[in-house]
Amino acid sequence: MDKIIIDGGARLSGQVRCSGAKNAALPLLAATLLTDQACILENVPRLKDVITIGQLLGKLGSRLEYQDKSTLTIQTPHLDAYEAPYDLVRTMRASVLVMGPLLARGGKAKVSLPGGCAIGARPINLHLKGFEKMGAKVSLEQGYVLLEAERLHGARITLDLPTVTGTENLLMAAVLAEGQTIIENAAREPEISDLALMLIDMGAQIQGIGSDHLVIDGVESLQGVKHRIIPDRIEAGTLMLAAAVTGGDVTITDCNPNHLIALSVRLRETGVEVEEGSDTIRVKSDGQRNRAVSITTAPYPGFPTDMQAQWMVLMSLAEGTSLISETVFENRFMHVLELDRMGADITIDGHSALVRGVEHLSGAPVMATDLRASASLILAGLAADGTTEVSRIYHLDRGYEHLEEKLTGLGAKIRRVKA
Ligand code: UD1
Repeated sequence: MDKIIIDGGARLSGQVRCSGAKNAALPLLAATLLTDQACILENVPRLKDVITIGQLLGKLGSRLEYQDKSTLTIQTPHLDAYEAPYDLVRTMRASVLVMGPLLARGGKAKVSLPGGCAIGARPINLHLKGFEKMGAKVSLEQGYVLLEAERLHGARITLDLPTVTGTENLLMAAVLAEGQTIIENAAREPEISDLALMLIDMGAQIQGIGSDHLVIDGVESLQGVKHRIIPDRIEAGTLMLAAAVTGGDVTITDCNPNHLIALSVRLRETGVEVEEGSDTIRVKSDGQRNRAVSITTAPYPGFPTDMQAQWMVLMSLAEGTSLISETVFENRFMHVLELDRMGADITIDGHSALVRGVEHLSGAPVMATDLRASASLILAGLAADGTTEVSRIYHLDRGYEHLEEKLTGLGAKIRRVKA
């Protein structure tokens, strides 16, 4: 298994380009199942998760072809199958995103239940409750959920929690349903707005984009589309913190600063300069220790749970004590033990972690446990004294495009070795 080796201590500087968003690409690819016409996606990140959903679409009858390294044409003339098998859902739970499109276009779907996950239980009960309200018959059979509906009908759905993929799944189902669907307490992540905008270009009728109240008037059919995927705000945020933890000066290009406000505001509070352009962000540190700043994760526009592990690295080295509270997922502190092994002083108490800043982290062999935890260990390695060896980096390849190359371009001493 590959490993990443980092010789810490280099101050990062220069420019780096932000890739297309993984969490937008996955629902957008799934949404192409809603039409028999060709859809062209631009700014597609080359990631393991994108390959996985591509494989799933291939099994369902889609033809996928790259025009160049980030432009993908997808067409599904007929649905050949209705199943998302266990093997794919197990490696990527976002595979459940095909449920809405399959049900809306073909009237049925059979999707493996995602089961447990390193960062918590992550059920899909809210997706299923919504589909039932729209008239789907839901049953469970040998670990699979079966959904059937002749044609879905509009419904008023109030989500108990603003689930991101749940909102996306229900939105994709509602665009072809008969009549009006209202989704209340919808999640408001930019990736959902990106999906809604592409669906509108395909002929869907959606109001309330960007709000927690989506109103969808179902149409008979949708057409092909050309759509550019939004920048990956979590990748951009990770690079911002890479600059901050190394006392660096980094400009991230091709990003959307408006999607990163919660992070930028907190980062400024730590003493780092954050300059926003129309599609750039410059993070500049004077090399002094940052101040400790507490955060609580929350659905967008709150502080993203997907940045919590990386923020913890910055706080590990800050002056003072901070509290990091995780309200979105239980058990999303798997990185803490590894950071403590590098000399951090973090204590977990239920859903919160108390971080007492230390002056130095020291390099160590560490193990990645999930996607964002991997990113945090890379950041810790960049900031630490000595050499850090991060294993199980397949998690990283699910969600970060060419991260080592990007960091090397900024002056980091980082390399991948085949184990
Ligand atoms: C998405 C993101 C993930 C991010 C997360 C929260 C994608 C592909 N993934 O994941 O990177 O960390 O949003 O921003 O976009 N819940 C239920 N029942 C459900 C659905 C969710 O109880 O049916 C709970 C979850 O357990 C969790 C919370 O709701 O506690 C939020 O989860 P959700 O927004 O659904 O996360 P994902 O869509 O899986």
